Amino acid sequence: MADTDRPNTNLDRRNFLKMLGAVGGTTAVFSALDSFGMSMASAQDAPPDLSGRSDGTRVIVLGAGLAGMTAAYELSKLGYETPILEARTFAGGRTQSARRGFSLTDVTGTTQRCLFDEGEYINHGPWRIPFHHRSTLHYCTKFGVPLEVMVNQNDNAYVLHDDIDGPFSGQRMRQREIKADMRGHTAELLAKAADQDALDRELTADDKEQLISYLVHEGYLDSEDLAYRGTSGRGYASNPGAGMNPGESSDPHGFLDLLRSGLGRTFRSIGAWNQQPTMLQPVGGMDRIAKAFEREVGHMIRYGMEVQRIRQNDEGVTVEVENVRSGETYTIEGDYLINTIPLSVLNQIDNGHSEEHRRAMGEVSYASTGKMGLQFSRRFWEEDDHIYGGHSVTNFAGNISYPSYGFHKQKGVLLGYYNFGGEAVRVSGMSHEDRVQYALDIGERLHPGQYRDAYETGFSVAWHLVPYSLGGWASWSGSARQDAYPVLNEPDGRVYLAGEHLSYLTGWMAGGIESAWIQIEKLHRRAAQDEARAAVKGFARA
Ligand code: ALA
Repeated sequence: MADTDRPNTNLDRRNFLKMLGAVGGTTAVFSALDSFGMSMASAQDAPPDLSGRSDGTRVIVLGAGLAGMTAAYELSKLGYETPILEARTFAGGRTQSARRGFSLTDVTGTTQRCLFDEGEYINHGPWRIPFHHRSTLHYCTKFGVPLEVMVNQNDNAYVLHDDIDGPFSGQRMRQREIKADMRGHTAELLAKAADQDALDRELTADDKEQLISYLVHEGYLDSEDLAYRGTSGRGYASNPGAGMNPGESSDPHGFLDLLRSGLGRTFRSIGAWNQQPTMLQPVGGMDRIAKAFEREVGHMIRYGMEVQRIRQNDEGVTVEVENVRSGETYTIEGDYLINTIPLSVLNQIDNGHSEEHRRAMGEVSYASTGKMGLQFSRRFWEEDDHIYGGHSVTNFAGNISYPSYGFHKQKGVLLGYYNFGGEAVRVSGMSHEDRVQYALDIGERLHPGQYRDAYETGFSVAWHLVPYSLGGWASWSGSARQDAYPVLNEPDGRVYLAGEHLSYLTGWMAGGIESAWIQIEKLHRRAAQDEARAAVKGFARA
């Protein structure tokens, strides 16, 4: 099929993800990413165990994000010289945290300065580490980055849908009510069907007994008549306490109302693999990981160096860079190159790649995605709503996510929106002030009378507009995964590409780290072979 005949799978997928995001929040989006094969489990726990030295071999590393710093850190231990060229004035790539003093100028030239109070921050890039991302956790342990729990699921947070039929439309509800009632009612229905021998063809008498016993347990059913009459887990009408206060139980929502509202589809009994508790975050901000790497390899990094041109021949590679401050240009020479520049950016550089690689690079698209951190004068979500971390879910603007640090402090910063695809593009077209108003409108519906009142300052990012990133993460279509992805995983002469884009963990730090691990192993093997060949040649000439 000619390229032009190919359906625009990325656009379709993006819209699909946007739709899913509206229905089920980020958890649903990431379940869907799973089914696109875009974010599978992290398969590598530790860096490759490489032996042998390559003293003096020069590997130029482009990009001081996690992939680049991983490559330099591991290769330098084997004697490689690994200068890192970084266009930004700081290390970490997308692994950033916005805190007081941080500023960001987007491709339109608009600069935002973060005015949060000291100690407040938003992880506007990566913000959660699944328990199975052992590679990320490997470096957290190695570099002594303290971690804390990132509350990725909170049944006490809200769900609010305004596009549904029936009594729940536009109503703010606790997630636990829906989870308990939907599962309880469904369990009741199934248990009664089993009890009335309606499942006889599928189950033996013993199986039915086991099933009913499981459903009684799962759905909090009355074991006598198999009825669901609610459970404390859905919340009390008034909470129990000391003395003569046993609390007052709450009544479940009606099954048919709930069923017809579709709200049951907001949640799943178990989260997608990359969204499950326990999620972790560095104490003090995600940039702590970047800073920890920088402590190890910072002396190798030349900041503010924008890559202009890459070339290679049989002898080595050359990279021409421009100092973004002074405008001076330099040519850096090396034996090999590890290039971690996102493909969205690399595509636009005179990169010297083979036709095959260039064509493959053109196959990937990058996710449009935006986030907004909002600082409030008081933590009303904790004080008034008793929500500690997690996400409130809407159908109309994704999720609001509450901070998993600083509980019960006076102030706090929450994630006012996290949008994708078309919505991210639309919102990114607004001025920062308008984005704030948009975010406040969302939040005010979930926290009426509290949100606008307590708002102090905001910081927003639209990753597709961020220089040197031009997107949140790589989005591979199924066909590009098949055709283009394997090409880019192989070296192009002396050039090795690495980054989250060359992983099945796109959009995760683990993807960048593990991609670097894979490429340095290949490079190290190749360098040893090249050295051996050169030695034989030298010997033959002597
Ligand atoms: N991995 C990113 C997230 O957790 C995309 O939202």
